[in-house]
Amino acid sequence: MTDKITRENIGAPNAPFYTPIQNPPPGTFVKTTQSNGVIENIPSLFTPLKLRGITLPNRIALSPMCTFSAQDGALTDWHLVHLGQFALRGAGLIMVEATAVTPEGRLSPNDSGLWNDEQIAPLKRIVDFVHSQGVKIGIQLAHGGRKASTIAAFINVKALGNNVKYSQLLPEEFGGWPNDVIGPSPIPWDDEHANPKELTIEQIHEIQESFVAAAKRAEKAGFDIVELHYAHGYLAHEFFSPISNKRTDQYGGSFENRVRFGLEITKKVREIWSEDKPLFVRISATDWVDDEDSWEIKQSVELSKLFQALGVDLIDVSTGGNTPKQNLAVKDHFQVPFAEVIKKNVDINVATVGLIKDPKLANGIVENGQADLVFLARSFLADGNWAIRAAKELGVLIQTPVQYNYAIRSFL
Ligand SMILES: Cc1cc2nc3c(=O)[nH]c(=O)nc-3n(C[C@H](O)[C@H](O)[C@H](O)COP(=O)(O)O)c2cc1C
Repeated sequence: MTDKITRENIGAPNAPFYTPIQNPPPGTFVKTTQSNGVIENIPSLFTPLKLRGITLPNRIALSPMCTFSAQDGALTDWHLVHLGQFALRGAGLIMVEATAVTPEGRLSPNDSGLWNDEQIAPLKRIVDFVHSQGVKIGIQLAHGGRKASTIAAFINVKALGNNVKYSQLLPEEFGGWPNDVIGPSPIPWDDEHANPKELTIEQIHEIQESFVAAAKRAEKAGFDIVELHYAHGYLAHEFFSPISNKRTDQYGGSFENRVRFGLEITKKVREIWSEDKPLFVRISATDWVDDEDSWEIKQSVELSKLFQALGVDLIDVSTGGNTPKQNLAVKDHFQVPFAEVIKKNVDINVATVGLIKDPKLANGIVENGQADLVFLARSFLADGNWAIRAAKELGVLIQTPVQYNYAIRSFL
């Protein structure tokens, strides 16, 4: 029997194609490099995190990133390779980019979407691949609200030095839908964005149901986690903030009314999302505006308590994005203090994100109890090997795919 276990190249169970089983999954702590197998002082970044029925092997997550590369909302082979690479490189969790729950909720025509059943299969292919490697994967469900119908970010090539800079707004002639952009109130984000139409109560309920329908499709695609995107000035954040929400009905005015839109979606999604699967919510903890009534950290704490009561498992804490008036000093770890405040005041798991580059400092965030999970966006784009490099810098060996283990162990 032992012979069979050691000699047979066993396939991953339930994978739709043959691929060797990864056990333990990539990203799992193996040993400290000093200790020759004796497990001592595991850096916090490489300790597992249990959330309902799933366990992440470490605290390093790929942050959701729009890639503006989908067609009619459907992901392609490009996304399979793009997201799949992180499953081979030690990320503890992969989060699929903002995925629109309605066509009008997309930021650009090439956003990911999950408003129809045809969009399930390409997502399932990615989920199946990531699962075949023993890795967990979530999807971020979103509605862009008044920031919809814009050009793909990388078309604005000024940063590359040739001085081209278009208005953000994507007109109809280029496939945009500026006349169908909606928001809680008819206030544009700035004069480069559409003039949003104020949602009727009926339309509010329709969009809420679109989130629920998309979550049901995410379940069919096999995702482990749903993250509701309530940050960055997109629709839910627009409802939360008095800067963008001037309604006088039950969805505007008081704190209770402004958070109603997001809470109702959360409750409905939690009801249909499997009991053993975690639900995340990404919020902007502050609008970064001091001189007018705005969304602030103290409201984020109160809202996080309400999410916790509804069965949300983790608050993914970002900031800003709701107004060009935001006054923020972007620097390394600039959003960590906001995650820390929520962590200290609410009995819930918290993630942080934003200019986290250095592995030792990232480890400190978890070790010091400032957050439970660290999301990386640009650090992972710049270095797909970030988690493996972090392990080396922290003096530990982590599991990589069996096909790579011998190389990583000899070369790193
Ligand atoms: C190209 C790109 C696309 C992004 N798309 C999303 C997105 O779909 N959803 C989201 O919540 N944040 C998005 N973000 C924000 C990132 O998830 C992250 O919060 C932010 O970039 C800060 O982290 P970083 O300093 O590690 O890049 C995006 C960021 C980048 C760079």
